[in-house]
Parts: sequence; C-alpha cells; structure tokens
Amino acid sequence: MNQKLYMVSLGPGDVELLTLKALNAFKNCDAICVPTKSKDNTFAKSISHKIVTDALKLLDIEKVIIPVYSPMNFDKQDWINEANILIESSKKYDTICFVTLGDAAIYSSIYYLLDILKERDKTLYSHCEIIAGVTSFSAASARVQKPLCLGDEQLFIRPINPRSDVKTTEILMRPKIGMDTKELGEGDFYTFENMNLENEKITPFKIEKVKKYMTLFLKFAKRD
Ligand SMILES: C[S@@+](CC[C@H](N)C(=O)[O-])C[C@H]1O[C@@H](n2cnc3c(N)ncnc32)[C@H](O)[C@@H]1O
Repeated sequence: MNQKLYMVSLGPGDVELLTLKALNAFKNCDAICVPTKSKDNTFAKSISHKIVTDALKLLDIEKVIIPVYSPMNFDKQDWINEANILIESSKKYDTICFVTLGDAAIYSSIYYLLDILKERDKTLYSHCEIIAGVTSFSAASARVQKPLCLGDEQLFIRPINPRSDVKTTEILMRPKIGMDTKELGEGDFYTFENMNLENEKITPFKIEKVKKYMTLFLKFAKRD
C-alpha cells in the first residue's frame, strides 16, 4: 500500500481562504477524516465539515467522509481514539486527509495525534505531510484592515485559559545581513533561509551569521 496522510489546515471558515495545496490534497485523497464534537458522529455543528463540503462543491468532486469524534477535552485517551481512526482509515484507503481549523501550527490537536502515530504506526507517521493555512488572527486583521505588527512592534499570542505554565515560542524576523546571532540567545532553534525559494536552506539550529534578509528563526518552546 502507498500510504499518505495529509494534515490539512482549513483556514478560519471561508472556503476562499483554503490554499491550493489543501485543495490538491482533497483532489488526490481517497477519504477525508473530519473532526466532530457530536458523540453520534453527525456534523450538524462541525465548522470543519462545512468548509470541507464547500471545498468539495467548489472542486465538483465527492469523497468519502470519515467522522472523527473529537470532544476537545484535552484528554490523551481522546487523542488515542482519534489517532486510531486515522490508522484504521489508512488501512482501507491509500491517501487520507485529516483536517484542522485555521493553521495547524496554532493550538491544533494534530501534533498530539502525530506523537501517538509516531509510537503506533511509524510508516503512516513517516508518510505524513502538514499543509499550512491561514490563521484566525491573520484573517481577523485583514477583515478590519489593521496590521498585527508594524515597524518595531512585536506580536503576542496568549492562551486565555492556560492549564499549566505558559511557555513561549519566538518567531524572529527581519534580521540585518551580516549580524551575529549570539544576541538571539540559546534554545531549540531552526533557521529558514529563502524558504520555498531558490537556494532554500532549513537548518535545525541557529546559524551564526545572517547571510540573507530572507532569514527567519523559530525558537521553539521547551517541550518535554
Ligand atoms: C483551538 S484554537 C485553533 C486556532 C487555529 N488553529 C488558528 O490558526 O487560528 C481555537 C481558537 O481560535 C480562534 N478562532 C479560530 N477560528 C476562528 C474564527 N473563525 N473566528 C474567531 N475566532 C477563531 C478562537 O480564539 C478559538 O477559541
């Protein structure tokens, strides 16, 4: 079997904010796994289902839809059950999608599911691709025509009801060419140079000197 799992970011509710990559994943897959908070696996209240349905209509295609009961209780057993649905679905269908609202990098359960897949189905884990999307706050900023950061401002994303100590991921942008990166501190750094462009380089640590303006650093929160 030629397994493939796409973790598809759906954007914040408007089908026109889906990426071409997301639409291509829908075109190429055999089934789409869609979260629902309803115990009876119906989709009456599912925003994700509405976006997926709109996208399939736009593409004029039909796909098998697999409900994934996702009560959003932040409970490991729920994530295990959800991951099991992905594992079982991938035994039946070569290419499957799992969808998540907004962008997958922002408070999405997909990384909890991936941790479980890594333990339980290494092959499926290694055949997973995450498709980035538009975040709710990018779309919100555009709707009111107000930028999130300008000039020397910085941007905070704050969980309103944290369950434990709040850890921070830093996004470091707009470096000076030739600058020494010592001042950025130490931590779990990645460096992205010319991402998606010619001469792309992604380094799993902090480079010492900045060579290009199109350089972005991510300093990930310390996770166990
Ligand atoms: C679990 S987080 C998911 C965030 C999402 N992955 C993103 O990229 O924006 C859910 C929170 O995102 C915000 N959110 C997501 N979509 C939204 C929308 N369409 N309108 C308003 N807030 C939204 C709300 O603060 C909501 O409580």
